[in-house]
Amino acid sequence: MEIQQQIKQLQDKFGSLSGIEFNQYNELLAVDIKNDSAEATIFLQGAQVTKFQPKGQEPVLWLSQFCDYKKGSPLRGGIPICWPWFSEFDRNPAAVKEQYNTPQAAHGFVRKQDWLLDSIHCPNTAITVLNLSLNITPNKDFPFTVRLGLSVTVGPSLEIEFRVLNNSSTNFCFTSALHSYFTISDSANTSVTGLEGIDYLDTLDNWNAKSDAGSFVFNAEVDRIYQNIPGEVRILDSAHDRSIVITNTNSPDMVVWNPWVEKAKRLGQFGDQEYNGMLCLENANLLENYCHLAPGEEYKTIINIKSLPGVR
Ligand code: BG6
Repeated sequence: MEIQQQIKQLQDKFGSLSGIEFNQYNELLAVDIKNDSAEATIFLQGAQVTKFQPKGQEPVLWLSQFCDYKKGSPLRGGIPICWPWFSEFDRNPAAVKEQYNTPQAAHGFVRKQDWLLDSIHCPNTAITVLNLSLNITPNKDFPFTVRLGLSVTVGPSLEIEFRVLNNSSTNFCFTSALHSYFTISDSANTSVTGLEGIDYLDTLDNWNAKSDAGSFVFNAEVDRIYQNIPGEVRILDSAHDRSIVITNTNSPDMVVWNPWVEKAKRLGQFGDQEYNGMLCLENANLLENYCHLAPGEEYKTIINIKSLPGVR
């Protein structure tokens, strides 16, 4: 269906809600939200949240200025959903890999697919809630029946609930990540707390296990998997004079990623200089923390992102 036709249908269904607009961005369709707390944008492709900007603040989520907004091409920024495996297929646990006949593209396939927008609620003028879903039926690459759900609450904070319901008659295993890109002023002004002393796998050094004693700072490419994080993680940004606080339930791992100079040049939809304005902190279930669902079982994870004034 043409995008303009889809927009018309969505307007007929939801159009009377204030602060909701459906817009076309090149080949893609997005919901733009404005309420008394914040502005946000969610693309139906990948159920990808690309903007969260509390009133009077810099955007909290980062989105590249070089996005192509094309079908089948996950946007560089916001919160792509990496599922049903994270990273290179071969790096996944045997329980995940052995379910498939052939190795497949990194970070799974649902970030490229069109999700359904099931409902929008505005409980008050400061909160907007969107529910999206994706029903997956067995095909040659994916032999399971699964229903994915994503609830996005835009208010003073951004809350994302991601659900996976196994509707198959067999067990199903997956790894996953909510691959959040955050806006930072500059790496020199930025540190991350909450990861001190936790073992991480350094994927740039053959996935060797390491740990840092102090808070995390960076001035080079970084690509790490922190395992079993104890609680909230904060991005302290002195030039933006704010702290971005990320909490989660049921996503025990966190990936920290910045491509820096050389990898930035190789990435799609990424400007050569943009590496210095972003940092990815990705709440995840990886490696031995992969998820196992019996028939009829549901997995649920929630992440909450808020921005507090000052560095604390
Ligand atoms: C991160 C990985 O999660 O995603 C990186 O740790 C990877 O290694 C990055 O480069 C981006 O992946 P993609 O597929 O979106 O370009």
